[in-house]
Order: sequence, then structure tokens, then C-alpha cells
Amino acid sequence: MCGIVGAVAERNIANILLEGLKRLEYRGYDSAGLTVIRDGELHRERQVGKVQALVDAVEVNPEFFNGHIGIAHTRWATHGEPAQRNAHPHVSGKIAVVHNGIVENYAELKEDLLAKGYEFTSQTDTEVVAHLIHDAYKQTPDLMEAVRTVTPLLQGAFALGIVHVDSPDELITVRLGSPLVIGVGIGENFIASDQLALLPVTNRFMYLEEGDIARITRDSIQVYADGIEVKRSVNEIDASQHNADKGEFKHYMLKEIYEQPDAVARTLEMAIDSSNTSSLRKDFLQCNEAQLAGIRHIQVLACGTSYHAGMVAKYWFENLTRLPCSVEIASEFRYRNPVVVDNSLIICISQSGETADTLSALRDTQKQKPTGLVSLALCNVPTSSLVRETDIFLPTHAGPEIGVASTKAFTTQLAALMLLVLKIGVTQDRIDEQRLTTLLGELHKLPGQLYASLHLDASIKKMSEHFEEKRSCLFLGRGLQFPIALEGALKLKEISYIHAEGYAAGELKHGPLALVDKDMPIVVLAPKDSMFDKLKANMQEVHARHGELFVFASEESKMVAEERMHIVYVPEVCEILAPIVYSVPVQLLSYHVAVMRGTDVDQPRNLAKSVTVE
Ligand code: AGP
Repeated sequence: MCGIVGAVAERNIANILLEGLKRLEYRGYDSAGLTVIRDGELHRERQVGKVQALVDAVEVNPEFFNGHIGIAHTRWATHGEPAQRNAHPHVSGKIAVVHNGIVENYAELKEDLLAKGYEFTSQTDTEVVAHLIHDAYKQTPDLMEAVRTVTPLLQGAFALGIVHVDSPDELITVRLGSPLVIGVGIGENFIASDQLALLPVTNRFMYLEEGDIARITRDSIQVYADGIEVKRSVNEIDASQHNADKGEFKHYMLKEIYEQPDAVARTLEMAIDSSNTSSLRKDFLQCNEAQLAGIRHIQVLACGTSYHAGMVAKYWFENLTRLPCSVEIASEFRYRNPVVVDNSLIICISQSGETADTLSALRDTQKQKPTGLVSLALCNVPTSSLVRETDIFLPTHAGPEIGVASTKAFTTQLAALMLLVLKIGVTQDRIDEQRLTTLLGELHKLPGQLYASLHLDASIKKMSEHFEEKRSCLFLGRGLQFPIALEGALKLKEISYIHAEGYAAGELKHGPLALVDKDMPIVVLAPKDSMFDKLKANMQEVHARHGELFVFASEESKMVAEERMHIVYVPEVCEILAPIVYSVPVQLLSYHVAVMRGTDVDQPRNLAKSVTVE
């Protein structure tokens, strides 16, 4: 959460900072601010709300922000309400600081600083950092040294950008538990929480390790680990792969829904060669075969949408390989002293690879040191902390996902998980050749089926009109469609703000049926699968109680619309892969309901894309 950008250059950097913030807005949008050093002074502007408010404020007096060094921030509020006084950068004397993360011991540190006579103008943990550096600088008037003195005092996870009026040529940055990259330019250098922010100015990046502190000037970057200067390599990326424009679409979310056929095809290409769909590509996880051969249990850890992907994977692993698989929300797992059994494969699923709860849950499993533990990151960001901290990296090739509501990240996670199930199944001789060939053939058809499901857009938009005035909604599914019911409910609530619950349809009679009346819309995921007859009985229970059904069904189910039963037919897909295709209609439904209700689809209230705090 929160995004930081910094720049030191010969040219004016205000617009670079503002453009960077716009690109980081997905990380939080409660307030935005920037500070530029000019004429021996800190020039600061801070505004509540989105980056555009800051842009508008800077435009009133742009010359004021003409400068060659500066830092900027977009905030997702943790300590203190979204208010101007809590917006970053925070200043102490001639020092300005931007911060992403949380300083857990800020209250004790604040006590000490108050005793020393420091005054606080905000409710944030960050202001403590600014004052601490100010205090340390009094003893050692060198910004880098002052920062180095302060960082061991801070507990928690943080990335910092720091400038000082008396050192107008250097930007100091620290990375400990929160993401941070250095953008390498020619005669100019930058920092940001995500390289996406800096793509307009560079495609060369240096990735810091946890605990690194760097001093950045126009033409030098010095990185220190434990006080010793270290080398970190510079990587060049293909900027065209990171296109973050909305293009012809009104929202990123809709664009990302429409990108799913291509994104899933790219992910499948890791393991399936289109000229040979009878076996997995030899190079797919080839160097990890020995590790995968020893696995006897699978533990999936994830949050939100990624957790729902893990729930689908549980069905797949247990059905197809008979390997036991447990799935748990990372924020629960990390606090319940769980048993990690020997020879477990820990699969951490995360779009961003920076989710604090997932990272902590992973670290807890590693601390237990069970025999034969193998960890795997299923992640969309190759440079993320999660990828660095795990033994195996299985990428999803979704491309950047900007909309806070996850769409293509989810379906590519599912595609990659199925590839992993097959790889483990084949490696351990748990999946025979015939089954493998059948499943690979079905996977090969998947991008086409996803494409066909996008043709439902117009009928789903029509269906969404029934939801505009609703206050509550149920999503039902059984078996492999149960996690999609949960995902559908999550999508609807997060972007339309309609209360929604996902249920395994068999659970209805154990409580939620009491909610059903003529005002309750009930969305049902009803492919013609092995659970269809049971599900049909559940639908009848609802219909008999005057509930209004909105059913995503296959034509093969021969269901027909009737009073209080609306049907949209989803393209045919085999039962095992149906959760991937049935994700599309629930995404489209949520999208259209949200648009109709006039909410901020890409940046729903109170949320952020990358949840780097617990
Ligand atoms: C869902 O639309 C959300 N974006 C959210 O639930 C998300 O999946 C969750 O915060 C986990 O994020 P991650 O995949 O980056 O770890």
C-alpha cells in the first residue's frame, strides 16, 4: 500500500513525480503529496484524495515546484485518517520523508521524541521517521549516516525516500519489507515502489535487497548492506510488455477482463507447445523436478482472490493427483501456530508478490524447518519479494493488472495452477498419459472458450440492470464452482458496494435460506457437471421461496428461463476447467453493476491493489 516516487536529475522533476504517482495510484488513493528542493528550501504540496487533486494544486503555481530533486507519495491510510496533515511527505526541519509500510514501534519512538521537544503535526508513523533522522543528523551531519543510524531503531516493514535541503544532490532510500526499485537513467536516477511508475523515463532497473540503503545522485548509485558497499545488477526490461494504458476501454477492469484469452494463452505457453498437445513441454519446471518428486502434501497460502484460486487448486490436486492439499487464508495461518508437515509444497499465490500476510505466512513455514519443505511462488511480478523468498517461481503472464479488482490475474493463476497439478502428477506418475493428453487438449481450447465467453457481455449488461437498486445478493455454486461463487461475491461487493455472499449451494438450508425473499437476487453458477442435479434442487428451494435467480448455465443443461429465473448460456467447457470460463460472467456482472451504480470501478473506496501491511 502507498506508492513512493523520487527523482534526482538535471531537468525539472515535478512532472516525472506526478506521472509516477498517477501510475502508482493503484497502491492507494487517500491523499497525495510531493516535495521538491528549490532555492535552498523544501517546496511541499499535499492534497486529500486522488493524484489529480495534487496535479491541479501544483498547476496553480508550477514554477514553485521546478526543481532537480524531489520525492512524492500516494497514500493508503493506516495511521491517521485521510487528511492533509497526514499526507506525505512528512517534514522535520530541512528533511522530508516519504514512506510505504508500517513502523510498528512508532508509539514508543514518539514518546522519546516528544521528550526531546519534537512536535508532531500528523497522526502518522512516518513523522516519527522524519524526526528521528533530524535528530540523528544533529550528531552526524551526513544524511546517509543519519539514515543508517535510524533504520535499526525501526520495527516493521518499510520503504523510504529521504531528501535534505543541505544535501540537494542526493536522495537516500531504504528498503526493508516493502517494495522499492531504483530506475537508472543517463545523468538522472529515480526511485519508485513499482517500476511501472518510471517507465516513461527509463527501462533500466536495479532491484534492492531487503535491508539495503542506497545513496542516489544524478550519476551515481551506491548501495550498502550491513554498512558495506555492495553491487546490485541493473536489469533492462521490455517496456512494451508493461503497457498500462486503458486503450479504447472506459476502465482498466474492463480492459483486463477482455485481455483474459491472451493472458491465459501466454500462461499456458509455458508448458504447452501448440504443435504438440499430448505432453507437457520438457523445459517446464524441468530444473525443479527433483523437488516436486518428493512432495507428499500441498499447502496453499493466499489472500482474497488469490485464495479463491487456491480453493480451486485444492479440488484439482486432490481429484487429479490424490495428493492431500490444504488451503488457508494467509492472515489466519500466520497467527495460529500451524503444523507444517514434512515434504510439504507451500504454494503462495499472489498477484503482486508483496502481500504482507502471504509473505509472513511463508516465512512462518520456513522457520519451522520441516524436512523436505519446498516453497513456490505463483506470482505475476517476477521481481517481487515473494518470488525472491521462495524456491520455485511459477509466473503468471497476466501483464500489469491496474484495476484493484483482480480479473486476469485470477484466471491466469488458475491456468498456471492447472499446469502445476499436471507437472506434479506426471513427475510422480499420478496422472496417466491418456488423462494428460485429454486435459492438455482441453487446456488448448481454453483461450478460445474465454474469448467466446466475452460475447456474453451485452446480455450480462442487460442482466445487471436488475441489481442496480439491490442491497444484498447471494452467489451459489457447488464443487469446483463454489470458489467461483465466493469470487463472484467478492467482485460484486468490492466494486459495487452491494453486500454479497458466496455459498456452497448445499449450505443454503443450514441458514442463508432464511435471507431469501422476492428482493434477494441469487446468482447461480450452473454448468452441466457432476453436481448439476444437486444444484438444480438447491435452485428449486430458492425459487419456491420467491427468490429471483440469475443463472449462468451451459446450453447442455437445457435450463429455460421462466418467471424469476434469468439465464445466460456460457460456452461449453469441460467440467474440470469450467471454473476458469465461469469466472468471466461473474466479473462482467460485477463490472456492469458497478458502472450502473456510478462507483469508482478501478479504484474502489478504502482498498488498494497491493496490500503490503497486515
Ligand atoms: C480482489 O479483487 C483483490 N484485488 C484482493 O482480494 C487480492 O486478491 C488480495 O488482496 C491478494 O492480493 P495478491 O494477489 O496481490 O496477494
